[in-house]
Amino acid sequence: MNNIRPRRLRENRNIRKFTRETRISANSLVLPVFIKEGTNIKEEIKSLEGHYYYSPDKVPYIIEEALNHGVNSVLLFGIPKEKDPLAKGAYAENGVVQQGIRAIKSRFPEMTVITDVCLCEYTSNGHCGIVNDNKILNDETLPYLANTALSHVAAGADMVAPSDMMDFRVKAIRELLDQNGFSDKPIMSYAVKYASSYYGPFRDVVGSTPAFGDRKTHQMDYHNVREAVKEALLDVAEGADILMVKPATSYLDVIKEVKANTNLPVAAYSVSGEYGMIKAAAKAGLINEYDVMCESAVGIYRAGADILITYYARELSDAIKKGDIG
Ligand code: PBG
Ligand code: ZN
Repeated sequence: MNNIRPRRLRENRNIRKFTRETRISANSLVLPVFIKEGTNIKEEIKSLEGHYYYSPDKVPYIIEEALNHGVNSVLLFGIPKEKDPLAKGAYAENGVVQQGIRAIKSRFPEMTVITDVCLCEYTSNGHCGIVNDNKILNDETLPYLANTALSHVAAGADMVAPSDMMDFRVKAIRELLDQNGFSDKPIMSYAVKYASSYYGPFRDVVGSTPAFGDRKTHQMDYHNVREAVKEALLDVAEGADILMVKPATSYLDVIKEVKANTNLPVAAYSVSGEYGMIKAAAKAGLINEYDVMCESAVGIYRAGADILITYYARELSDAIKKGDIG
């Protein structure tokens, strides 16, 4: 007979908060931000309720808003005016993201600016790499990715996040940054990125739905988790500083496994479809949006994430401040 009563530690809100196993800080939240080429743009993003496109001149508004909520990191995506097979806008000195970085850093140098590095927002065919004969070429794509990363840090980005899933891209980026005096800029690698249908709303947001084929020859098959460790370890060897798992909620086991098998910080990206599902279910009256947002975010941290990239970053930061989570 034992006298252990688990309910003793659930008696009231104070004791529950006192004995929580998972602690979350707003310092680990990252807000994705979409920058659209042009001027004077603040335009609602239909498939991502509560989010707007900003032109580079207007993007400081959302940065200020994020900082006011206690969110200190953003992940930038660009929507160029023109797209072409070689993704010229991705590495243009005056490309849309490069302009956005300068605008942000001149007003809010304290904001940590991370940039997504991929070609799919800039290629006319919507693919993440250079295409020939309907094939996404790996090694031919590497210099384009590395040049994109270099142009971002040259414009003032604090960190680059390659999301393309080409083999050896972390190595290519690390080498080019080092050669150009940016050995101090970290790489947050989308090391474990699955070919996922949860990206649906995002592709609509940036217009990157592939014109033909899919992303299954570079993004991972969702049946696999040992392969996730393989990908993570390869990126560690190539010089990654932070490892990302994406998506998040259907991949909690993957987060746990990557965490257990590496010693780098692990980031999780709760993607557009995850956000949209909570929004839609709440709108249908099935769930409470705020409560499910909190529960799903804490689940991701409990699985082992150290960092969370989420479209709910501002709201989660508020929830932490209120003491509802964290
Ligand atoms: C670009 C990229 C994608 C996302 C982040 N970077 C889309 C894709 O791979 O098709 C998805 C983000 C989201 O759905 O929120 N490679
Ligand atoms: Zn891509």
